[in-house]
Amino acid sequence: MKPTTPILDACCGSRMFWFDKDNPNVTFMDIRDEECVLSDGQTVIVHPNVIGDFTKMPFPDKSFKLVVFDPPHLVWAGKNANLYKRYGRLDRDWATELKAGLDECMRVCDDYGIVIFKWAESQLKLRTVLEAIERQPLFGHRSNASGKTIWMAFMKFPS
Ligand SMILES: C[S@@+](CC[C@H](N)C(=O)[O-])C[C@H]1O[C@@H](n2cnc3c(N)ncnc32)[C@H](O)[C@@H]1O
Repeated sequence: MKPTTPILDACCGSRMFWFDKDNPNVTFMDIRDEECVLSDGQTVIVHPNVIGDFTKMPFPDKSFKLVVFDPPHLVWAGKNANLYKRYGRLDRDWATELKAGLDECMRVCDDYGIVIFKWAESQLKLRTVLEAIERQPLFGHRSNASGKTIWMAFMKFPS
């Protein structure tokens, strides 16, 4: 698939962190296209532009200038749990899945482009995740009151 935007959100969910949720410069991808109701009555709306798997993306090499990667951070979550409905869940083999996802983000990123990886440290520690993806971010920042959410930046250097 030939991309038509400079930015990819590889697993957009309900696009909560976007200021403009319909930004025309962004291709919003997710593995699901659905609406589900949480126990408090809120509805989670996930309507990506592209339905795709971040471990096997439907884009050629070097397609985007900026790739955003905010994968599920839970390995253990029941299918009826609100967190599962909102964020999804990783495979039992989460290390292989996350490494494949980051590798794909780097593949579809242009030379000297940027990959932003967001991780929430609720079940898996950042140190373990960085070991699994076998890459080192340039820098990162812990946000929110508990400091458990980490935003990291990677650059794609030509090989
Ligand atoms: C943490 S949520 C993303 C939240 C989003 N950044 C937001 O602001 O709302 C993770 C998303 O990854 C999606 N996902 C899970 N496995 C995927 C895969 N293999 N490929 C693409 N998306 C996937 C889930 O459906 C879920 O919507």
